[in-house]
Amino acid sequence: MVKKKEENTKTKEIEIEEIPGIGPKTAEKLKASGYTTVEAIAVAATRTLGDIAEISEGTSNKIIAEARRVVSIDNFVSADQILEKRKTVGHITSGSKNLDDLIGGGFETQAVMEVFGEFGSGKSQLAHQLAVTVQLPKEKGGLEADSIFIDSENTFRPERIIQIAENYGLDPKQALVNIHYARAYNSDHQILLAEKSEDILKKGGAKLLILDSLTATFRSEYVGRGTLAERQQKLGRHLRKLHQLADMYDICIFVTNQVSATPDAFFGDPTRPIGGHILGHSATMRIYLRKSKQGRRIARLVDSPSLPEGEAIFLVTGKGVTDP
Ligand code: GTP
Ligand code: MG
Repeated sequence: MVKKKEENTKTKEIEIEEIPGIGPKTAEKLKASGYTTVEAIAVAATRTLGDIAEISEGTSNKIIAEARRVVSIDNFVSADQILEKRKTVGHITSGSKNLDDLIGGGFETQAVMEVFGEFGSGKSQLAHQLAVTVQLPKEKGGLEADSIFIDSENTFRPERIIQIAENYGLDPKQALVNIHYARAYNSDHQILLAEKSEDILKKGGAKLLILDSLTATFRSEYVGRGTLAERQQKLGRHLRKLHQLADMYDICIFVTNQVSATPDAFFGDPTRPIGGHILGHSATMRIYLRKSKQGRRIARLVDSPSLPEGEAIFLVTGKGVTDP
């Protein structure tokens, strides 16, 4: 059973209403849009805040400045402090040692980890796997924590969770209880759910936020060239929020992204993920999956700030992800 932390030390106790300039009405509007903490307001963009709360640019600026004063979010720190913070990064095993080694010991907290690949390449299987392995004790490759699963493709299967949990000797029922699940019906809903997940994160105890898929809703809603800029802008904002959550709550954000492997001209380069450049430069680590012979999957580390590029082979079996 996952032990809940008594208190998340990172959460400040100050309510947003206490920020000068935020009255009850403004607070209500901000909260409804997911701006529930002083930290979130401190890193918000003036225009966004103004639009949401229907307040002037001047007022938004003032509110943001006050919030920043309270949480001192724009302070510089020395690089050795960054190194100290890096030491607190947690790792979640994928179930395959090959894959864990490729990415430096498992899926990281304080990071947005993107897995992209064609249909059936194992993205959702990995998502299911991590939702279970994050619950394992540290010595077994977990973080003894819950996960949040935002499913935009309706492919979450509790039956798979049970199979994987049983393979690890976990109580399958408890394994399901430890997963906070929500179905996202469109991109706005998905963004809202990601913001709302902060309510769960604030309580502590969850160390993994899964978005399977990150891009599908955006892709289906914004078709045609004319809508690309708007889509990317929205996706960019969504990703900034995800990075903020990863950092603030020391969690792993696992996102999937489908690419077409048919080398026809429709999507251009077959290995080009759908999110385009915004996503390409935003994820902390990017892993490209492809199908191989006999149920094997090949993972390629495409973009990492500190690890060499390379490949790993793993299997998707009835019991979950394993080494061949
Ligand atoms: P899209 O969401 O369509 O883009 O694909 P995806 O990358 O999310 O694919 P997913 O992770 O759902 O992989 C599906 C594949 O996993 C199936 O085609 C099977 O090869 C494999 N798979 C899923 N469940 C099982 C299982 O219970 N046993 C075995 N052996 N393989 C499974
Ligand atoms: Mg999938």
